[in-house]
Amino acid sequence: MGIFAKKQLNQLIAEASESEKGLKKTLSAGALVSLGIGAIIGAGLFSLTGMAAADNAGPAVVFSFILAAVGCGFAGLCYAEFASMIPVAGSAYTYSYATMGELIAWIIGWDLVLEYALGAATVAVSWSQYVNKFLHSVGIDLPQYLLHGPWDEVNGVAMNGIINLPAIIIVCLLSLLLIRGTKESALLNNILVILKVVVVLVFICIGWSFINPANHEPFIPVNAGEEMVKSGTMSFWSFFTSESFGSYGISGILRGAGVVFFAFIGFDAVSTAAQEAKNPQKGMPIGIIGSLVVCTILYVLFAYVLTGLENYINFKGNASPVTTAFAHTGYTFLNSFLTMAIIAGYTSVMLVMLMGQSRVFYSMSVDGLLPKMFSDLHKKNRTPYKTNLIFMVFVSLFAGFVPVADLGHMVSIGTLFAFALVCIGVIVMRKTNPDAVRGFRTPFVPVLPILGVLVCVVLMLGLPKESWERLAIWLGLGLIIYFAYSKKNSKIGNK
Ligand code: ALA
Repeated sequence: MGIFAKKQLNQLIAEASESEKGLKKTLSAGALVSLGIGAIIGAGLFSLTGMAAADNAGPAVVFSFILAAVGCGFAGLCYAEFASMIPVAGSAYTYSYATMGELIAWIIGWDLVLEYALGAATVAVSWSQYVNKFLHSVGIDLPQYLLHGPWDEVNGVAMNGIINLPAIIIVCLLSLLLIRGTKESALLNNILVILKVVVVLVFICIGWSFINPANHEPFIPVNAGEEMVKSGTMSFWSFFTSESFGSYGISGILRGAGVVFFAFIGFDAVSTAAQEAKNPQKGMPIGIIGSLVVCTILYVLFAYVLTGLENYINFKGNASPVTTAFAHTGYTFLNSFLTMAIIAGYTSVMLVMLMGQSRVFYSMSVDGLLPKMFSDLHKKNRTPYKTNLIFMVFVSLFAGFVPVADLGHMVSIGTLFAFALVCIGVIVMRKTNPDAVRGFRTPFVPVLPILGVLVCVVLMLGLPKESWERLAIWLGLGLIIYFAYSKKNSKIGNK
């Protein structure tokens, strides 16, 4: 057995039904869609859309969103099959335990820290910037050294910060809320989700009639390098390795898709709450695919209106393009409402990410791969409070001190790696357990999961070299812990 030990399907399903001892089953299909939207719409939409338009795709950032959505859709369909057949907290970690064995499962569980914990930290840093903007508008100015970590730069200028205090405060508050209970957290999440969907709809509906068609011309800005390749005056390889690749044109749409991919991260967080779903066989696929579809429609319309209101060039280096674009509508009295709703939107992303993180470590601890304290449940609230507290400290350290771009790339690479493994897992599971009951079946297996892996790898290749190095270091650290602790204490591996 050892590193190749697999969890048996029937054992997983039995675990899921031990609801008396475990997590409470409180989430309906609607709550799951809301949980998904809660995790998805955030910094990616409200901050990165403008930057991806300015630097990469122009108004065609709309196509970048569609491309990223197709990639996420492949992975989403694979997640949906797993989540409907293995409704256990733990998401990709649990699925790989059942399909590819303990070591791969460990690697995935460890890797998900990059997605969930660092994802929460990344959004906390953007949250802090919006809060600062809001406070400034009501006459309160916090000192710079309390708003930036020591290594923060804005447009190449050092910010001389010490600590990002607001980011730490929000991480602590949300962690404490999660300890109180999933139901309470889901209620707050629902309110925040309604608020942020309203803000997106208000922006689209009001903005639509103020679109200046000239801003959409040309819809796909010309990339000089691409023209040279077409006319044969430059080789594709020289173009591919040059600065001009990814700066407008078709290559810009591709690079833009890599950037706005961040905006879709989070739909998989729905699957971490599988054990708390009332009817996971039905609810899980609805939650995952439903939230992805709703967000894609909103994103495409939002990006179309944003680039129609303001020329894309003017979004360069602008982390809050929404208020810039909205100024053209004359409804500027709504600006404070928009900013507040965006802050609320970011809050729900962090909430779901922090919750997802604690559920993954909960599952790993139940399996003996992590010390027991990670699965200790609070006597009254039945939440994994010790894990919540540990990640409160861990995420706070990153949110308080690490620059946001470094964090964002780590999140993307970690997430894409997990997505790719889940896609492979579906193919493996179809071979090893062809007759298992599946509430939902991914269509066109193995073609669709293979396409999913390819898209993930292409998007990973577009990320900076340092994020690959950091991923390798993080996974290396994980392997040391696995061989020093987890392998010896594994319940399945030592049966
Ligand atoms: N998708 C989430 C966001 O955009 C991570 O903030």
